[in-house]
Amino acid sequence: MRTIKIFDTTLRDGEQSPGASMNLREKLEVATALAELGVDVIEAGFAIASPGDFESVSEVARVVRGSSVCSLARCVEKDIDAAAESLKEAQQPRIHVFLATSPIHREYKLKMTTERNIETVRLSVIYARRFCSDIEFSAEDATRTEIDHLARVVETAIAAGANTVNIPDTVGYATPTEMYERINNLINRVPNIDKAVISVHNHNDLGMAVATSLAAVQAGAGQIECTINGLGERAGNCSLEEVVMAIKTRQDVYNAATRIITQKLVPASRLVATVTGLKVPRNKAIVGQNAFAHESGIHQDGMLKNPTTYEIMLPSDVGFQKTDLVLGKHSGRAALADRTKTLGFELDEKQLAKIFIEFKKLADRKKNIYNDDILALIEQNLHEQPDKIDNNNIWSFVAYNLKCQTGKEPTITLTLSYKNKEYTKEVCSGDGPIDAIFLAVREITEKNITIKEYNVQSVTDGQDAQGEVTILINKNGDTYRGYAVSTDIIEASTIAILNAVNRM
Ligand code: KIV
Ligand code: ZN
Repeated sequence: MRTIKIFDTTLRDGEQSPGASMNLREKLEVATALAELGVDVIEAGFAIASPGDFESVSEVARVVRGSSVCSLARCVEKDIDAAAESLKEAQQPRIHVFLATSPIHREYKLKMTTERNIETVRLSVIYARRFCSDIEFSAEDATRTEIDHLARVVETAIAAGANTVNIPDTVGYATPTEMYERINNLINRVPNIDKAVISVHNHNDLGMAVATSLAAVQAGAGQIECTINGLGERAGNCSLEEVVMAIKTRQDVYNAATRIITQKLVPASRLVATVTGLKVPRNKAIVGQNAFAHESGIHQDGMLKNPTTYEIMLPSDVGFQKTDLVLGKHSGRAALADRTKTLGFELDEKQLAKIFIEFKKLADRKKNIYNDDILALIEQNLHEQPDKIDNNNIWSFVAYNLKCQTGKEPTITLTLSYKNKEYTKEVCSGDGPIDAIFLAVREITEKNITIKEYNVQSVTDGQDAQGEVTILINKNGDTYRGYAVSTDIIEASTIAILNAVNRM
């Protein structure tokens, strides 16, 4: 049985999802979880893209052990220099160079002839090999590249020293059959193909990224590039949890395995959803809340008689807990610590103490506290602020008084604090209460911001459920995310806006 390498690009391509940007601490937390999950390669970022990206690749490289750590680079010397420098402390470094190869990209984006395209690949891989023995080359937009040219590119990259050649479906255009044929074709016509691992990196524009990746495995690919929760550019990338469980569950078809510890999939998915603010839909395969829920009477009856009637995987195989045991105001610190660990979070003493205080406050307002409430507390209290935050230098919520009446503009009196001083404004304006809060925050903080997205949903079922608010605000074209939960959604909305302002 073959072992398929899992290359995770949540921290690079995944972070390119609008609104999914992570700060350094969050990236380190995700990288640690990925290493514990057993991924073979962690693509930590694109070192040349910004000083922040450089720092995060370097830190991930310094901290992670057991998985290769990789940085992306264009076929440009300064990119490769930055990638090599950022990976200096990695236990197993990999440089990932890429160049677009399709006629559309060659003609319009790169303005490059086919010969120069080939030569650029050759020189860049040779240059990257000066720094690192593990080199991956990606032919961007490979699935729309003429097969003859693609075969030459792949042969050249391998001859120049690439040990992995990646065939990305950059625009999510290929069908599974086409992907199978393309990989099969390359295997048959590239003379040195056995010197490298063939990889695929498939986007999900037509909802086929997992299917095309599996087809590539059937044709002989040995590495799949994917992301937790399928995050990534536009419609995202191949979802790690789905492709891994497909290989595991249908071993009879794929005759392959991965090194992923599948019991850690749900905690990893939750962690990524928490730090990016991109929630997992309830009906998402493998890690969605409904993935193992059985509603209809006929299904429940079958499940009681024999779970295999309607379940092809065990919930525990992907990390779902048997029961969502409820915590309440009498639950102690040890119970909370145990639960946060089960949910995939390793909290230190200080973090646990903070969450415990908030947990007790919440227990006074809400009788039953579920896993999702605890995840929301973690998100709100541990992930709400950027790194190196100076707590005196942020805006915080103090109080509000809101009057709303049909046919009249709402009036809000809002008090915020900044550097230990309180500021109050009364604003009578807005289309509704949320707009009024937003205008009041804008006036008090004197920040010229606009709301790009506002979303409120209940964290759990029931009348006393907490309201969870996620917000995206815009300033000068940059987007900042804010998040808050409270049993009072007006308060949650205000804190979410301030959270985004503080990130800004
Ligand atoms: O989608 C793509 O082609 C990429 C490459 C950089 C691998 O992300
Ligand atoms: Zn991509």
